[in-house]
Amino acid sequence: MLRRMKKASEEQSGSKTPLQESASAARMAQRPIRVIAITSGKGGVGKTNIATNLAWHLSQMNKKTLILDADMGLANIDVILGLAPKYNLSHVLSGEKALADVILEGPGGMQILPASSGIQEMAELSKGEKLALIDELGGLGGEFDFLLIDTAAGIAGNVIYFNVAAREIVVVVSPEPTSITDAYALIKILYSSYGEKRFMLLANRVRNSSEAREVFEKVSNATSHFLNLTIEYLGYVLDDTRVTEAVRQQKALAEIYPDSRANKCLQSIARKLCRIQPEFCESGSLKFFWKSIVDKGRG
Ligand SMILES: Nc1ncnc2c1ncn2[C@@H]1O[C@H](COP(=O)(O)OP(=O)(O)OP(=O)(O)O)[C@@H](O)[C@H]1O
Ligand SMILES: [Mg+2]
Repeated sequence: MLRRMKKASEEQSGSKTPLQESASAARMAQRPIRVIAITSGKGGVGKTNIATNLAWHLSQMNKKTLILDADMGLANIDVILGLAPKYNLSHVLSGEKALADVILEGPGGMQILPASSGIQEMAELSKGEKLALIDELGGLGGEFDFLLIDTAAGIAGNVIYFNVAAREIVVVVSPEPTSITDAYALIKILYSSYGEKRFMLLANRVRNSSEAREVFEKVSNATSHFLNLTIEYLGYVLDDTRVTEAVRQQKALAEIYPDSRANKCLQSIARKLCRIQPEFCESGSLKFFWKSIVDKGRG
């Protein structure tokens, strides 16, 4: 299958695309990439908007950013951005397309990997095919500074795998009580069953900074009381009708409403993310990330 994948790549173009070239260069010298899952317990709290606009800001700050659309349900990022990807990761797995042909360029220079259905198929590859695929996907690491994973909501299998494989986890929470209890439930399972210890909380759709703090304290009081776990506060995004307007227009908020309240918040969160310097170790590499995802079928 992977041989077909390589063949498709060769047939597509006699010479290598810039992406393919840098992917092979990356195999020679991997540079660290930040792999961050954007997740939530409850659905509809703003993950896709946050991932997309953070990617926009990070790209503007000269951080090469790839978004992985890992929501198996509906195609998300492409709808929000008005893009129409013809292919996704499943076409790479079937050998129809090369990886570089599947990655789309979004607004502001962000890159998007529509993965959706392909993720399920990854678990069904043979051992050799998995290794070749990990090599191929891991090679992208040299090209990017950030990989943001837009996950589905909840605690279903795939969401857990992406969070466990990512090095950093951003939990998006809105002030709604069910969003708060579901965020706690997600953190609890990731901590108790998978040993995840580092969580950053992002309060979305809040009226002001004190409401954001209240949301954070509700979740963090519960995690420290019941789990003895300290979580971090990443920041907040204000509730802003411009967000919905941007969604309706299928454009990035950052692009069409740069002066909106919500966009200012997103910009400062992107800056803060750049200031945070996690320790880099094997589990911070892109190869490790893909290996964890591809290997999930074995457990
Ligand atoms: N800060 C905000 N202010 C106002 N509306 C917002 C804000 N953030 C999100 N929304 C609204 O919430 C809707 C859902 O957002 P989004 O699709 O990003 O959520 P999600 O968590 O990715 O959902 P799902 O769990 O279905 O993937 C948006 O279409 C938008 O209308
Ligand atoms: Mg979404």
